[in-house]
Amino acid sequence: MSRTVYVNGQYLPEEQAMVSIFDRGFIFADGIYEVSAVINGKLVDVDAHLARLERSCAEIRLELPWTRAALIGIHHELMMRNKLTSGGVYLQVTRGAADRSFTFPASIAPTLVMFTQARTMTREVGRGYKLLSVPDLRWARRDIKSVGLLAQVLAKQAAAEAGCDEALMIEDGVITEGGSSTAWIVKGDTLISRPLSNDVLPGITRKAVLTYLAESGFRFEERTFTLDEALAADEVIITAATALVMPATEIDGQPIGGGQPGPVARRLRDIYFDLAETGGALG
Ligand code: PDD
Repeated sequence: MSRTVYVNGQYLPEEQAMVSIFDRGFIFADGIYEVSAVINGKLVDVDAHLARLERSCAEIRLELPWTRAALIGIHHELMMRNKLTSGGVYLQVTRGAADRSFTFPASIAPTLVMFTQARTMTREVGRGYKLLSVPDLRWARRDIKSVGLLAQVLAKQAAAEAGCDEALMIEDGVITEGGSSTAWIVKGDTLISRPLSNDVLPGITRKAVLTYLAESGFRFEERTFTLDEALAADEVIITAATALVMPATEIDGQPIGGGQPGPVARRLRDIYFDLAETGGALG
């Protein structure tokens, strides 16, 4: 059965949904995206994802003609039409279609594309993620959730070819983030994740976890960390709308902790699932 997707005001079977070859998303990667998780039929932290979308668009001077409420409505309509109860909703907005020219065309309407992706999202984590460390080859504004993802495509392909689930990107001797996720390490009762800056995407799952970390009995230290520190950590954790809170049990073939999903990751994942029942931690 084909999915129903959304493109520029219309709900269409995926085979019929088209955008122009002149779309600036296609030509220049001149666009922004978001991925919101769906767990047990509930859309998780969508408001925070759309706030980040608005911020990313403002940073590239792309004016959004849709209200946040209208965009949330399309999320729900797509979930309903596709009977999506587990997975995610992808949203992409580009500056629109016009003959190729680097500068912004004078009058242009943004392109909006959205679709659902079914994915199993349960509390189980199996053996956790295996990670492959790779150099971070990205541009200088990683805080913007740009659709220019070639560096991540290559990083994650290298990881997949090495039998891994995610890449761990490294720059100037420290870990920046996962290929499409935030990286954390655990030492005792302390979770460590690097400070937000232009060097990393401000993860919504990271933000959600921080709302309940202290009350769950953990401490938070915001600082950079090296690959060696990650290898010696009690646990390594990956967070993203697609992975939620996921233990990593191996980096570059070396086991982390005992090589099994750790208790901190499991506990934080459980709480995340509990909060998802009411739409997430961020309201
Ligand atoms: N990626 N860092 C990067 C580089 C990411 O691409 C992502 C998310 C994150 C985590 O952000 P959040 O917790 O808001 O999902 C961090 C999405 C899921 C993707 O590209 O599929």
